[in-house]
Amino acid sequence: MKFPELRPRRLRYNNKIRKMVKETQLSIDNFIYPIFVSELIDKKQEIRSMPEIYQLDIDSAVQEAIEVDKLGIPAVILFGIPEKKDAIGSSAYESNGIIQKTIRALKENTNLYIITDVCLCEYTDHGHCGIIKNNYVDNDETLKYIARQALSHVKAGADMVAPSDMMDGRVSAIRHLLDENGFTHIPIMSYSAKYASAFYGPFRDAAESTPKFGDRKTYQMDPANRREAIKEGMLDIEEGADILIVKPALAYLDIIRDFKEYFYVPIAAYNVSGEYSLIKAAAEKQFIDEENIIIEVLTSIKRAGADLIISYFSKSLAKIQ
Ligand code: PBG
Repeated sequence: MKFPELRPRRLRYNNKIRKMVKETQLSIDNFIYPIFVSELIDKKQEIRSMPEIYQLDIDSAVQEAIEVDKLGIPAVILFGIPEKKDAIGSSAYESNGIIQKTIRALKENTNLYIITDVCLCEYTDHGHCGIIKNNYVDNDETLKYIARQALSHVKAGADMVAPSDMMDGRVSAIRHLLDENGFTHIPIMSYSAKYASAFYGPFRDAAESTPKFGDRKTYQMDPANRREAIKEGMLDIEEGADILIVKPALAYLDIIRDFKEYFYVPIAAYNVSGEYSLIKAAAEKQFIDEENIIIEVLTSIKRAGADLIISYFSKSLAKIQ
């Protein structure tokens, strides 16, 4: 038998050389931490299906944000749970709504870059992401509300808005309204390929946004579709999106890779609630080594092509590194 001349193992010989040839680096600079703020509580409450993630009142959100800032995480994305819900999500675009108040409080107390999720599902009594007409989420009617919500976040001080409603034309509607109001410098990070996924289950506990009837399949994408994701990304770029999001991340690494190759804008991946809960639950049972799984999973998302990662593990990563 001939001995091999080509020996990849030479470059795995010790930690020094392994580190030198590592192709993918995780940097906390690329992470965004989600925060849930609720108007219904006055102290923080752990989310049942998401250990160590909380619904926060504004004061505890400020405490949390200060910690996030100290850990070197550059940005947060905010989700709000309002006191009052109605058919048209009125609390979503009030100047004194839960998110608007939180933005102001965080701006006063931290240096974080503040991104807001723009969507009606947490604010409507039916739990859908838009305005209902004849049992159907009406696209063009919804656009007005989504744009108004984005504008009110920006007026309160948001640095970037992230529409997650999946209506056609929302990026363009938001861009125009922001520009008309003098906010030409505020970027839009669009959830372009957002799939109708069972991985959002725990989030809906956290954000109290489960639809009261039907599901989100008339607006979110079919998990079976890959080419359609490119179409969505293309449209969002034409409408003025600055960053494109793929969501969820782990079951959609191929889509992240596609986006990276097709589009010359930064790509973000949302490592969603169900992906977090699976790991937390298995770690609690000591079936897996939590720290190593976190690093491996986040590395895989980066390796697939994500420039930015929205993750409930951001704080864990900052503490591990
Ligand atoms: C909608 C929204 C959802 C998530 C982010 N924005 C849920 C949904 O579409 O039902 C899910 C995030 C996660 O699962 O972590 N506003």
